[in-house]
Amino acid sequence: METAGKVIKCKAAIAWGPNMPFAIEEIEVAPPKAHEVRVKILASGVCHSDEHILKGSLASTTFPVILGHEATGVVESIGEGVTCVKPGDKVIPLFVPQCGKCVSCQNPNSNLCLLNDVGTLNGLMADGTSRFTCKGEQIYHFVSTSTFTEYTVLNETSVVKIDDNAPADKVCLIGCAFSTGYGSAVNVAKVHPGSTCVVFGLGGVGLSVVIGCKVAGASRIFGVDVNSDKFTKAKEVGVTDCINPRDYDKPVHEVLAGMTNGGVDYSFECIGNVDIMVSALKATNPAFGTCVIIGIAPSNTNLVFDPMLMLTGRTLKGALFGNLKSKDCVPILVSDYQANKFNLDPLVTHSLPFDKINEAFELMRCGKSIRSVLNF
Ligand code: APR
Ligand code: ZN
Repeated sequence: METAGKVIKCKAAIAWGPNMPFAIEEIEVAPPKAHEVRVKILASGVCHSDEHILKGSLASTTFPVILGHEATGVVESIGEGVTCVKPGDKVIPLFVPQCGKCVSCQNPNSNLCLLNDVGTLNGLMADGTSRFTCKGEQIYHFVSTSTFTEYTVLNETSVVKIDDNAPADKVCLIGCAFSTGYGSAVNVAKVHPGSTCVVFGLGGVGLSVVIGCKVAGASRIFGVDVNSDKFTKAKEVGVTDCINPRDYDKPVHEVLAGMTNGGVDYSFECIGNVDIMVSALKATNPAFGTCVIIGIAPSNTNLVFDPMLMLTGRTLKGALFGNLKSKDCVPILVSDYQANKFNLDPLVTHSLPFDKINEAFELMRCGKSIRSVLNF
């Protein structure tokens, strides 16, 4: 392509600091260095994790930053030594990379590649520099992805080719919410046929858990949310019983225990609230229940509960990206979607042009959207 090797000027949504609206600015995107890939973004979903960062609730975040991590794009150019993709390939950026070589990648039970920037949030490429500048200032990357921009640069370990015919404005969800939720059900909890499940928080992540529980053959799927407006869509994707904790005068785990002969087989926290995490643990059957933590809690909070809850035989788990090895699993999930093994289309409730990004975040904040997808 004629832009290869050159700096690209394009539009990006910059988060200049915590609690500020995004500013659409002209930025410069440097060409990819060795083992890097420059990608033109086609579509990007708006996730609650971006909102956590924007609110400054994860202490280590560096500003100014280009957020966004749930996208589809097309490879514009590649740096020296890149063999996994070529210009023109349709791709999904991976916020959990897969280098294939580290202890986690070599372990069949883990997906947390040591090259990930989720724990550290240092916001730089492997050589310690950024590929973005705006008004002469360096702009940080976000979890090796940064997709709220027309062009981004990714390490070759953080990008995977998908089928060229996959609809960009839907399969972008496989870059985060869908894989996180679906993988948590089928791969982390390993939901079994005929089981009972409860999902706390019926947003994009929670409803993806519901889809996973349904595909795995759960017989009863409870959905818990304080916003009853979420229940219609939740039922559409597979929730059998909707519970608004505000409608009851006892704790929700007691309500659930009463409805399930002592507690569910599997519970999932998809909110990021430590009190709800404890509720989710208590909601499982004391002898054989499994609770999976998916939501991201603010960085200064702690999970506190009576250890007796565990001694009876419960299991407490957590994972990023559904513990799926990203490079291996994302293309498979895309083809499973194309083969109608599951339908994630109902999760996309709003489609907006990229420059309406602040509107998309407002829809999430006021609980009107499940997923808004920004189109470029
Ligand atoms: N009890 C029950 N439901 C709640 C509560 C609560 N105390 N607080 C919030 N909720 C519901 C909201 O009404 C909303 O429907 O949780 C849902 C969260 O959905 P989204 O805002 O769409 O968030 P989502 O993108 O699905 O992410 C959920 O997973 O990956 C993490 O960082 C992400 O922590 C976030 C979580
Ligand atoms: Zn996300």
